[in-house]
Amino acid sequence: MRISVIGCGYLGAVHAASMATLGHEVVAVDVDPVKIGQLAAGQAPFFEPGLPETLGEALASGRIEFTTDTARVAGARVHFLAVGTPQGPTGAADMTHVDAAVTDLLPHLAPGDLVVGKSTVPVGTAARLAERVREVQPEATLVWNPEFLREGFAVQDTVAPDRFVYGVPAGEAGARAVAVLDEVYAQALAAGIPRLVVDLPTSELVKISANAFLATKISFINAMAEIAEVAGADVTALADAIGHDDRIGRKFLNAGLGFGGGCLPKDIRAFQARADELGVGQSLGFLAEVDAINLRRRAHVVTLAGELLGGSVEGRRVAVLGLAFKPNSDDVRDSPALDIAARLVELGASVRAYDPAANHTAARVRPEVATVDSAGEALRDADLVLVLTEWAEFRELDPRVVAELVAAPVVLDGRNCLDRDAWTAAGFTVRGMGR
Ligand code: UDX
Repeated sequence: MRISVIGCGYLGAVHAASMATLGHEVVAVDVDPVKIGQLAAGQAPFFEPGLPETLGEALASGRIEFTTDTARVAGARVHFLAVGTPQGPTGAADMTHVDAAVTDLLPHLAPGDLVVGKSTVPVGTAARLAERVREVQPEATLVWNPEFLREGFAVQDTVAPDRFVYGVPAGEAGARAVAVLDEVYAQALAAGIPRLVVDLPTSELVKISANAFLATKISFINAMAEIAEVAGADVTALADAIGHDDRIGRKFLNAGLGFGGGCLPKDIRAFQARADELGVGQSLGFLAEVDAINLRRRAHVVTLAGELLGGSVEGRRVAVLGLAFKPNSDDVRDSPALDIAARLVELGASVRAYDPAANHTAARVRPEVATVDSAGEALRDADLVLVLTEWAEFRELDPRVVAELVAAPVVLDGRNCLDRDAWTAAGFTVRGMGR
């Protein structure tokens, strides 16, 4: 099938390349000529395991075209909208890119075309966009098909997600849309991946409520970490114990620095803003608390760093291991790790940071945080070691080797990812989060 993908950011680039490897003819459009140039040359514009291979395979198949010219989408039967919805100044989602993408697409729509929204949008957006489509091309249909991809697993989550959700209008047009999407995802559906057909507003809410739930789960365990710390308990053991209950589950119960990235923080704020607009703000009042707990983690680490250094970080050498918001990513958007590193610099600490993938992205937004090319360089002569992103490279460090490098054997494990016994045996004072 000939499809188009509008927006070649995280979501769109991965979606476009994956669809081409599944056998579809893909036209992928973005307004940024640099990004389009990179993708057309087979270079992934961001670090994502598996994407270079998928992109290479897509290009080699000859089934994908990257372009800045939206007119090239003419002839495609299905048009995926995959542009970003960043946080606006009030916390509400900024819909500029989505609206601009639809404006660009409208003149090229033909009767029978399907416009498929994938972006995370405020509930009610699909109905509004459906109206815009109807005005210009009454025989085209707009549906919503939210994307649940996690960075680091983006390719896998695109080709084999936990479930497909189709938000479609009632009646004949909805039934036709379901049939077309089933054709797009035929291989995954044949493998038994569940698919749920719902109405438009439900599909929009599925995405944002899933992210709100995940954020709440993380802040819940971080709230327990706060209690555990003063009560002398261990939040990791607590998470293991409550996680054995199937109704709770152990996933997303890792206490630490809290959540960051391009999705969870902005999504809970946008969700609250939308609920306020709909007059039901109090239904999501708890999300403000989820946000507050999350941000307290960062402040807490800065305080702990001062305590571990005998009262102040000023003039002290701090090795920061990890800057990305999570491992296997070079993304530093709203990254707790980078935020903490920057605050330490502001407090006068001499920070040397290292991240296996995010040094360059961090330098762009926080040039004041000095980065070095290896963990060893960051660690040399450090008075304090902070592990802020749980990359395998840091989990696997040999504490005996690290002990030889540092000036003082003190480590703050912001992600509870180190083998405490091994580090203690190597002579380290080990401080975890909530334990
Ligand atoms: C998230 C959702 O998981 C995904 O379904 C959605 O489509 C986009 O948003 P992502 O932002 O890639 O994906 O990251 P995720 O793996 O969810 O992690 C988010 C943040 O939570 C990270 O900063 C991570 O370190 C943190 N986290 C996660 C915790 O602090 N504890 C946990 O137990 C799990």
